[in-house]
Amino acid sequence: MTSELAGKVALVTGAARGVGAATVAWLRSRGARVLATDIRPEAEQLAGDGVAVLVGDVSEEDVALRSAAAAIERFGGLDILVANAGRSVNKAITETTAADWDEVMSVNARGAFLHAREAFRVMRDNGGGAIVTVGSFASTVGLAEAAAYSASKGALAQLTKVLALEGAPHGIRANVVAPGVIETDLLDTFRADSRAYLRSFGDAHPLGRVAQPEEIAEVIGFLASPRSAFVTGAVVAADGGYTAA
Ligand SMILES: NC(=O)c1ccc[n+]([C@@H]2O[C@H](COP(=O)([O-])OP(=O)(O)OC[C@H]3O[C@@H](n4cnc5c(N)ncnc54)[C@H](O)[C@@H]3O)[C@@H](O)[C@H]2O)c1
Repeated sequence: MTSELAGKVALVTGAARGVGAATVAWLRSRGARVLATDIRPEAEQLAGDGVAVLVGDVSEEDVALRSAAAAIERFGGLDILVANAGRSVNKAITETTAADWDEVMSVNARGAFLHAREAFRVMRDNGGGAIVTVGSFASTVGLAEAAAYSASKGALAQLTKVLALEGAPHGIRANVVAPGVIETDLLDTFRADSRAYLRSFGDAHPLGRVAQPEEIAEVIGFLASPRSAFVTGAVVAADGGYTAA
């Protein structure tokens, strides 16, 4: 544990597992206090020393408002937002329903927008902060059989660039982490073997494997910390070279 982020307060969405849980651990290990939110009640297990939990759906405006308020009430501020909550529907375009589209866009794009807006308001009034959104390689390249997901992650990248432009005069930085495939349970609503399935994409990455959540948390943490003080508006690939070709 270091004290690099001592005194800083972070809000991490989608924190119950995967990249979100790894990010909470990374931020805590540097001394930040964290409000961890997720739609899954299992998130409550994270509550403890320096971590408070709020269970709710990121796409609901009220949840974004309550999350920002809870960070201030519990820990006295909000310096870092990691808009990580996400979901995917992996279907051919002809099989993708309007409900699939709305669900993915509402979590990945609307949810990030609502939380970023609330965090921005607090950060603007308190002298600045860092917003990190968790995009995807699908923020920059199209992913077949993931139309809604690709559209949502492209939207997230553009949202983040606007946050960077509007935030700069207020000391607010905003960046996107764009991971390649990560070994998590992201697709578990589609497939019982979601981890094995995701691992099978290893060869598509020049580094020959998929990422572990902790490797993505390192990049998120860098962008959330003052170490990246001159980085804003960037889409930072953490994709094992997937988009280098
Ligand atoms: N796993 C991958 O291959 C991969 C690749 C690139 C980007 N990503 C992105 O990384 C981020 C984290 O995904 P992960 O791989 O850790 O998956 P995950 O499913 O393990 O974690 C996502 C978390 O978001 C939460 N969540 C989903 N919908 C929510 C909602 N409406 N409100 C609140 N919380 C909600 C889930 O409950 C879950 O805890 C996502 O934005 C995802 O799109 C993942």
